[in-house]
Amino acid sequence: MRLFSLRLIVSLIVAITLVSVLSVYNQVRGERRALRGDLERRAAVLADSLAGNVQPNLDTRSSKKLQQIVERFSNREHLAGIAVFDEKLQLLAQSAGLSDRMQGRPAVIMQAMTSKQRQSAFVNANGQSLYVYVVPLNPEAYENSGVLVIVHDARYIQAQTNRLWRETFFRVLVQVFLIVLITVLIVRWSIAGPISRVSQWLRALRVGRAEASVPMPDFDLLRPLAREMSSIAQSLAAARSAAEREAQLRQDAESSWTSERLSVHVRSKLGNSRLFIVSNREPYSHVRSGKTVQCVVPASGLVTALEPILRACDGTWIAHGSGDADRETVDVNDRLPVPPDEPRYTLRRVWLTKEEEEGYYYGFSNEGLWPLCHIAHTRPLFRAADWDDYRKANIKFADAVLEEMGSTNNPVVLVQDYHFALLPRLIKKKRPDARVAIFWHIPWPNPEAFAICPWQRELLDGLLGADVIGFHIQAHCSNFLQSVDRTLECRIDWEHSAVNRQGHRTIIKPFPISVEFPANQNLTSKPNSIYLDRVALLRELGVDAMFVGVGVDRVDYTKGIQERFLAIERMLEKRPTYQGRFVFIQIGAPSRTHIKRYHDLLADVEAEAERINWRFQTSTWKPIVFLKRHFGHSEIMRYYRAADLCMVTALHDGMNLVAKEFIAARDDEQGVLILSRFTGAARELLDAVMVNPYDIESTADAVCQALEMAPEERCSRMLRLRKMVREQNIYRWAGNLVTDLCEVRLQTADEHGSRAQAQAASLGD
Ligand code: G6P
Repeated sequence: MRLFSLRLIVSLIVAITLVSVLSVYNQVRGERRALRGDLERRAAVLADSLAGNVQPNLDTRSSKKLQQIVERFSNREHLAGIAVFDEKLQLLAQSAGLSDRMQGRPAVIMQAMTSKQRQSAFVNANGQSLYVYVVPLNPEAYENSGVLVIVHDARYIQAQTNRLWRETFFRVLVQVFLIVLITVLIVRWSIAGPISRVSQWLRALRVGRAEASVPMPDFDLLRPLAREMSSIAQSLAAARSAAEREAQLRQDAESSWTSERLSVHVRSKLGNSRLFIVSNREPYSHVRSGKTVQCVVPASGLVTALEPILRACDGTWIAHGSGDADRETVDVNDRLPVPPDEPRYTLRRVWLTKEEEEGYYYGFSNEGLWPLCHIAHTRPLFRAADWDDYRKANIKFADAVLEEMGSTNNPVVLVQDYHFALLPRLIKKKRPDARVAIFWHIPWPNPEAFAICPWQRELLDGLLGADVIGFHIQAHCSNFLQSVDRTLECRIDWEHSAVNRQGHRTIIKPFPISVEFPANQNLTSKPNSIYLDRVALLRELGVDAMFVGVGVDRVDYTKGIQERFLAIERMLEKRPTYQGRFVFIQIGAPSRTHIKRYHDLLADVEAEAERINWRFQTSTWKPIVFLKRHFGHSEIMRYYRAADLCMVTALHDGMNLVAKEFIAARDDEQGVLILSRFTGAARELLDAVMVNPYDIESTADAVCQALEMAPEERCSRMLRLRKMVREQNIYRWAGNLVTDLCEVRLQTADEHGSRAQAQAASLGD
């Protein structure tokens, strides 16, 4: 650092001196030119006025008169003397002292005489600079001609020039000193100071004692560096806390799943292969908002669950590019690295036409399969045209997956959800070396219900192309096996929960999905800060209340939102003491509103909240705050943590991750979960207060029970729930799925052929 400063100072001194000397040199030259010009002018003026007086006396050769004239004029400033010569250069008159200063006759006098023109020159006489100005007199005549010589002492020009150099020298000296001083101070304060603070901070970071914010002044030059360093610090802190957790767990002889463990596990299982995930909903979509493009994480439990897996093992996620600015943000291969701030894996977007999206997504997937699989009393709609689009979209996605796999050996593919029932078969047909699993995130209905689907055979055949089919709970697996049993010719291995068909074996297994458990699980939030945040939240919402309930859902008819509102209304009727004291905040992300049923539902839910509010509200309070928009994950955390209770009252749900997210958020070990018994989560979260959401009366009682639960019971329930979610987290889900899939023994083509024959024969018997 010292050497750097020294070099900087020397360079500055040299540079400033050079520039100053050059500019002064120019200035001095200009000044000298001006002084000389001025002297010339003065000599010329004097010569003009003298010539008129001298001329008549030259004619008469009156030396005396001439002497008087030159004496009279010779006391001017800087004038060294005046002399008059005749045509033979004989001196006629000369002012006193001139002969001492100018010995001999400078050549310029002769030049003027012969050229008959005025001449001037600076000459050096006895080490003195003189300016000699010569005017021919009577130049036309030979007789009586001569020259008038005016001699100026030019030393003052040199003296002035020297003074200028001297002054400049001192000025440059002061300038150099000041600039160097200022530069050294700037370097010390703006660079050396921050650098030394940052290096102290880095030292603290190395030993894990640094704060998250980088101690750097906030100005443009250093801002990108500060940003990068603070993200490195965050990653390091996360890695350190994960490592500590691992060590802690090893010590406790527990075996919990973390993102690090999943990455190691998946990498060891995959070997040289890669992981591919296919889903309809993309994890990041780009949407236009005015003139800017925003990156949005959509409201989807599926996205919440899968994102940590790909972050952990750097694969490719293939999904429908549904954002209106999605095409602008991909490369030529329709790929982009995500998450945008800290890329960890690749997103490959697949494009669908409006018509395809209408038939495949809105139509067959969400008006057909969704109500078919959920018992929520909305009738499924099956249109042949929608089915056709569904088939075509599945083929389009299969092509994209095959393209992404390229030359990867034994790729591992995790297909997601009911949008892609045909995909496993399509992929396997082209790539028998691929290991394919499909996870069905929604319930599988009983065989009677499923049987109403006109394309049940095709759906089951497509699904059975997979090596593993996963559901959330055993009941859905059993329903699926019974549907297969009733619909297709195959051999079901009930004992091992597998289907053998045309020489291919598919394992059907429950894999209860979950959420990521926050890394800071040991840092229990301070009750005081939670309380203050809740007060601030209520102030923002403009309600005054003592108790807070929360619900977080896509606005979907399977979520039982209206039933929930009715239960709250009933609770307020039954226990009026809660009027003015209990507020329920419902976050409702509008969803699939292009479908009329969903569009109407949104309006109905809003109207229901309004109706109940109208009944009870006061000037400072209302029972239901309905927030109709999509909230990001971190925004929702605030609501979870502010709540005394969370209501999950789905009429039917594969799992429901809101229930698990609420538990994961409560590191203060407070809060009560009210959970519908018709969710997959109810099989695991046994310490929730269970409800039948259709039973408004008992759901209302459950709200009271939650609000009035003894603090010890509340805490011990939450502790057990948290232990469950911590252990059965999303990494375990992914780890188990990948393990089972990678343990599948892929058949050779010969084995496949002979098994198929044997099975055909046995079925024929
Ligand atoms: C459910 C489905 C997901 C889907 C999500 C959101 O959780 O299982 O596949 O992504 O709902 O629905 P959307 O239609 O908006 O993707």
